[in-house]
Amino acid sequence: MRKSKSWVTKALIFALTAIIMAGCSGKQESGQAEAPTKSTKLVMATSADYPPYEFHDTSGGKDEIVGLDVDIAKYIAKELGLELEIKDMDFNGLLPALQANRADFVMAGMTPTEERKKSVAFTETYYEAKNTIVAKTGSHLMKMEDLSGKKVVVQLGSTQQSAVQEAAQTIKGIEVTPLNKIGDLIQELKSGRAQAAIIEDTVARGYVESSQDLEMNPISDNGENAYAIALPTDSSHVEKFNQAIKKLKESGELDKLAKKWFGK
Ligand code: ARG
Repeated sequence: MRKSKSWVTKALIFALTAIIMAGCSGKQESGQAEAPTKSTKLVMATSADYPPYEFHDTSGGKDEIVGLDVDIAKYIAKELGLELEIKDMDFNGLLPALQANRADFVMAGMTPTEERKKSVAFTETYYEAKNTIVAKTGSHLMKMEDLSGKKVVVQLGSTQQSAVQEAAQTIKGIEVTPLNKIGDLIQELKSGRAQAAIIEDTVARGYVESSQDLEMNPISDNGENAYAIALPTDSSHVEKFNQAIKKLKESGELDKLAKKWFGK
């Protein structure tokens, strides 16, 4: 009797230990394999300092990120039957965030350069812009050569930074300072700490129209910037995104959205 009791006890302890161990190892595994983003959601990373493509709208009493890119992203998410979530960060942090799985795609008026294509995939392009020189009214800075001897601000990590740094290799005396936000560039110009900023035309226009002390001049010889959406190289979404962009263009919806955000 005694013997069999201890045998039963041992068997019970064994079984319990096995259950507990299984529970532990199960926990460990699920802890390691954390999904980056939920599959019902599409996470967009952007730099919301770029009106009219993406910017903070606080006019309705609450802070909302809106713009042409946001409307296009909403259209694509709807086509894919997914919910859109937007994460705002510095432009320079967008591609690292994408590569670290902190977003499903990047949409930020981003130009698909050869350099960027080495680390991420891009969709078809959906818009185009040109570089301009923004400066205090009356400066008449028309081309890169005119920036000699000037302090020039650009957005950190942008194609404008590459463009002016490349120009500075042959044109003497261009002093380039990269900054995080487009709003910072405008502040530097207005305060006189910088004499020029390189900004894309549609974005520059908004700032120049709302401030009498600023003017803009397109740089004719340099900088055609098309915009595309960046996705991780292994993303299964690229094809679906391209199909949605095609539909957006062919249906005339993109023209409607452009009218909404650019006026005429
Ligand atoms: N098109 C330029 C680039 O790709 C500038 C984009 C800046 N976008 C922004 N949301 N601030 O580098």
